[in-house]
Amino acid sequence: MNRDIDSILEKAVQSHNLNEKEILYLLKTKDEKKLFNTANETRKKYVGDEVHLRALVEFSNYCKQNCLYCGLRRDNSKVKRYRIDPQYIIELAKKAKSYGYKTIVLQSGEDSYYTVERMARIISHIKDLDIALTLSIGEKTFEEYKTYRDAGADRYLLRIETTDENLYAKLNPGMSLKNRMQCIENIKNLGYEVGSGIIVGLPGQTLESIAKDIIYLKSIPVDMAGIGPFIYHPNTSIENIEGNFFNLSLKIMAVLRLILPDINIPATTAMETLNPNGRLIALQSGANVVMPNATETIYRRHYEIYPGKICLGDSPAHCRGCIENKIKSINRYVSSGKGFHIRQGFNK
Ligand code: SAM
Ligand code: SF4
Ligand code: FES
Repeated sequence: MNRDIDSILEKAVQSHNLNEKEILYLLKTKDEKKLFNTANETRKKYVGDEVHLRALVEFSNYCKQNCLYCGLRRDNSKVKRYRIDPQYIIELAKKAKSYGYKTIVLQSGEDSYYTVERMARIISHIKDLDIALTLSIGEKTFEEYKTYRDAGADRYLLRIETTDENLYAKLNPGMSLKNRMQCIENIKNLGYEVGSGIIVGLPGQTLESIAKDIIYLKSIPVDMAGIGPFIYHPNTSIENIEGNFFNLSLKIMAVLRLILPDINIPATTAMETLNPNGRLIALQSGANVVMPNATETIYRRHYEIYPGKICLGDSPAHCRGCIENKIKSINRYVSSGKGFHIRQGFNK
């Protein structure tokens, strides 16, 4: 048994390639310390001790989609909807820059109030600030993605969520895995840095399908992989399954670090929601990015993707100071650069 984990980890460290069976073995291992330590060493070797911060601005919680697991879904009438005025989004980006952030992430539900023209204007104004810009605003047409790219957006974050076609269709009514994959391909072809990832612990999801998800993320290959544990929201129409998917999420993240050693991997907010030290544990198990909340405090509690989200009563300035102190407490430091993915020749 022990020889197996040692030889799989050795293969991963040497070749950064694992097959589905080997990935599955690592996802099932009880010897997770070894996996986390090896991922941590790989992180240090390829992307060093710096941590890239991405300021997250959650600018609208309106969504035309109805993903069964998400608190922002169209049919959740209990959520108080808000959208932030385009001019004020730009002000928030300026404020985030003044706190030392080098990247802004604009995230929202799929909200058609922000027309292509409005969005392109916001993007180009933010790009005038000389900071990197990530969009996380859902599925768009090729032309829309192109307009945003031409306006200056650098990265796009669109999780595949799951590559299990039946599960995807069941959880995302009116959407299809095929289109999600096409969107990711379009984003890649337009020259964005591609961020993707999965939710872990969805009812009906298996370890076998997660192993396939990991192979898919490697095949793109993604520039950033965000792994978030599923957290049940009572105002959704998904089954409530018991379980804390923190540990499994950590394992998936660690495997991704081993097979995509030079990419950016965030210690996700959902991980910290499930474990009070979740982000620091993740940073010591393969992650090198944190996405602190830079949304104004008054809006935060309404962007309730899942309950119990961290930092709800805190201000952007407070979170900025808090996260830097946490990062220093584990002998890491906040990067002074924009944190683009620097390819080191593994993903040919
Ligand atoms: N609407 C965009 C999209 O879906 O790509 C961006 C915003 S959406 C709220 C961001 C991510 O939240 C999704 O990709 C999904 O993985 C995650 N999410 C939604 N509901 C969740 C839940 N109940 N638990 C954990 N993560 C969840
Ligand atoms: Fe909308 Fe994104 Fe939530 Fe789906 S996951 S309901 S697209 S905000
Ligand atoms: Fe928000 Fe710590 S990062 S309070």
